[in-house]
Amino acid sequence: MKAKILIARAVFPEVLERLSQHFEVEANQNDEPWSAEEMARRLHNKQGLFSSANERISAELIAACPQLKVIANMAVGFNNIDLEAATRAGIMVTNTPDVLNETTADFAWALLMAAARRVGESERWLRAGKWQRWRYDTFLGADLHGATLGILGMGRIGQAIARRSRGFDMQVLYHNRTRLPVALEAAASQAQYVGKEELLRRADHLILVLPYSAATHHAIGAAELALMKPTATLVNIARGGIVDDAALIAALRQRRLAAAGLDVFENEPAFHPDFLQLDNAVLTPHIGSASVPTRHAMAACAADNLIVALSGQIPPNLLNPQILQ
Ligand code: GLV
Repeated sequence: MKAKILIARAVFPEVLERLSQHFEVEANQNDEPWSAEEMARRLHNKQGLFSSANERISAELIAACPQLKVIANMAVGFNNIDLEAATRAGIMVTNTPDVLNETTADFAWALLMAAARRVGESERWLRAGKWQRWRYDTFLGADLHGATLGILGMGRIGQAIARRSRGFDMQVLYHNRTRLPVALEAAASQAQYVGKEELLRRADHLILVLPYSAATHHAIGAAELALMKPTATLVNIARGGIVDDAALIAALRQRRLAAAGLDVFENEPAFHPDFLQLDNAVLTPHIGSASVPTRHAMAACAADNLIVALSGQIPPNLLNPQILQ
């Protein structure tokens, strides 16, 4: 008998087809929003869940689904899942690391360049028909080349971002929970480990690549923003909640920070409406990994994890291997 799985959100048709060969599938190709109760009702008799980073998999939901064996999250981040509760319940949880590193690093640079060189703001101005003549000071921005790039959170994506800075002749500073081995620092464009405060003070451009957790909630708030240069650019491609958005809005409004490039927000997609008033913020709808090949690779990775795990083997990207003991 085929195991039963729930696919919480619309997926590429080939993923649905592949999973249907292995499992009895309940899908959501209309991408309907499900309440927590609806999710619990649909998941109740399923052994597997294919989720995105947008579904909250709480301890309550886990307790309501005693048959559940595997949660395959199609994202590298997994702060949407109560991992401890899943582990206590003996449920395997997997994510999709690595396949998105380079694409997400590319996008961090897209946001950095757009924010520092005022691409969104100047394009809106041009589209509004305001371009009448040349002026010496039209949309002056900050240079990237030769500047100091700060990276907060130096995992695989942070390192991929750092490698790209070579072409811009930048000095790279980083802060991380633990310092990288020297060989990895060298490969990451000779990145130099510094304390968080020094990073904030010295960076001309700061990119956030931290995982979100209770420990990193508001890692960048009013106090941290106050340490940054008023000419600096802040980029967040990590998770909403790492930045205190109200504090960032105040800093951008008062030009205590020059610009921000933001792909993630607190309470997204219902982000703080005041961001829309700020010309010095480039805003994108959580699309850091959204290239055609990478989203296909992430979906295939999540499907692999689900198929392997429900065949009784250890899935390649198991986040809670302790449940195997
Ligand atoms: C996207 O935000 C991810 O975690 O993969």
